[in-house]
Amino acid sequence: MLHRYARFADSGQGNRSIFLCECPSPAYTVSPYRNDPLLILTPSIHMSPHQSQPAAQPRPVFLELWRIRLPLPGMVSILHRLSGVFMVLAIPIGAWALGSAVASASGYERITGLLSAPLVKIALLVLLWSFLHHLFAGLRYLVMDLGLAVDLKPARLTAAIALGAGLVITLILGGVLL
Ligand code: HEM
Repeated sequence: MLHRYARFADSGQGNRSIFLCECPSPAYTVSPYRNDPLLILTPSIHMSPHQSQPAAQPRPVFLELWRIRLPLPGMVSILHRLSGVFMVLAIPIGAWALGSAVASASGYERITGLLSAPLVKIALLVLLWSFLHHLFAGLRYLVMDLGLAVDLKPARLTAAIALGAGLVITLILGGVLL
């Protein structure tokens, strides 16, 4: 069942692995993360010894999400995506709130009342964190796109800094603003 790896490359972000496997069949490849015999979860490229180009082949589906133990850069990466989605979803809500607040005095009262509700404050805190995490993780990716801090050690360090800065500044600004 196991196939021999020709090469394994990891961008340091945990979710962009490339497997080059010397097997002609699509069967299964094993995740190298932490010796976990987890079946492949990442996009894979299979190459047979007779092929010069990787061939697109049907991939096995084995997505036990709760068994994926992402390394820190992988967590920062998935949170970057999630935070981007949160912010996009918040745009129409924010536009509606702004529109209502400027439309009339009673609309303004309604929106300021809404903003003081505990659940809305929690949502705003999540949104604030989304912006800050997305900002720091996004800057980290732009730095990495320049070829800097791409080795495992600095990649882990900058991931910890991005995650920590987002959380700490959220708590500080959240305490002041909300
Ligand atoms: C504050 C400054 C921002 C920076 C520095 C930044 C940076 C980035 C970068 C570098 C990427 C590409 C990540 C990758 O290569 O996978 C990205 C993706 C994205 N950004 Fe931003 N961004 C910012 C603000 C925003 C805002 C305000 C929104 C939403 C309103 C947003 C939504 C997204 C979304 C949805 C993606 C795609 C996520 C994904 O496919 O993983 N970004 N951002």
